[in-house]
Amino acid sequence: MMRIIIPPIKSQGIKTKLVPWIQALVPDISGRWIEPFFGTGVVAINSGFKRAILSDTNPHIIRFYQAIQDREITPSIVRAYLEREGELLRRAGNKGYDHFNIIKDRFNQKHDPLDFLFLSRAGFNGMIRFNKKGEWNIPFCQKPERFSKAYITKIVNQVHDAACIIQPEWQFLNKSFEEIIPFATERDIIYCDPPYMGRYVDYYSGWTEEDECRLFELLSSTKAKFILSTWHHNDYRKNEMIEKYWHRFNIVTRDHLYHSGGRIENRRAIVEALVFNFPAYIRKHNHGIEPKVEQMVLCEERERYIARQLSRTDVV
Ligand SMILES: C[S@@+](CC[C@H](N)C(=O)[O-])C[C@H]1O[C@@H](n2cnc3c(N)ncnc32)[C@H](O)[C@@H]1O
Repeated sequence: MMRIIIPPIKSQGIKTKLVPWIQALVPDISGRWIEPFFGTGVVAINSGFKRAILSDTNPHIIRFYQAIQDREITPSIVRAYLEREGELLRRAGNKGYDHFNIIKDRFNQKHDPLDFLFLSRAGFNGMIRFNKKGEWNIPFCQKPERFSKAYITKIVNQVHDAACIIQPEWQFLNKSFEEIIPFATERDIIYCDPPYMGRYVDYYSGWTEEDECRLFELLSSTKAKFILSTWHHNDYRKNEMIEKYWHRFNIVTRDHLYHSGGRIENRRAIVEALVFNFPAYIRKHNHGIEPKVEQMVLCEERERYIARQLSRTDVV
């Protein structure tokens, strides 16, 4: 069983449980891991690649990981910070809310990556959302005892893991996907996990059909290999973007349950899809989508993938 490294940042839509499924599909390539919709970083952190381009329109996520890469944020700095702020939260009036608001206001003015970490770990349901002015928009989880010793240690360990895995060659950028995908060459793999249309819209995460269409055009013309995460259908409806655009590529699907999110629909089971532009055969339920003739056998426990995992352990 693959050990999944959990990142220190949380968010709705985090792909933690899908990482082994995604990684099993990654072909053997000599180039870079290119991830234009980086999010919490869980997929890249578990990719095992030495060279990567990682980008997101949310500047706070990118700044946080750059600070870890530059050693401005270290596990001991995080421990000292969380111990101090956790104690102030515990003692604050209004069941902790007063201190949560102090951090929120400070973050909205100064954008300190440590305050971003605090809000991501003390906000309701582990969600990240920004209002129209680009300010933090998730309420307090209402647990003044949030930063217990054990919880701080857990976060510090996650920062440590990320610091070990993030390579000096990893390039973090704060750009939209249109500026990132053209960087890819035939030796690279692009992994795309764009916002799902109609879900979780916020200041950094609006997503329209025009965006989907631009993404489709860019991925259709790239020389690189790509894997796109999207949803296929749920109990209520199907994702029309599949029939409109993505059916031209290979598609595999599997059931998934997202845990967080306010809307009922977001909490229900969904059938996730991976769309990709290279030959592979997946021995999984495929919801009636016929694998293409040219597809070859893909062993989930591929030797090369394991080799990558092992070389990553050296780094750790
Ligand atoms: C579904 S999330 C990615 C989740 C990530 N795979 C994970 O497991 O944590 C989509 C991300 O795309 C970013 N985003 C939204 N619009 C974007 C755009 N036009 N270009 C690049 N990133 C964008 C959002 O800020 C968000 O972090």
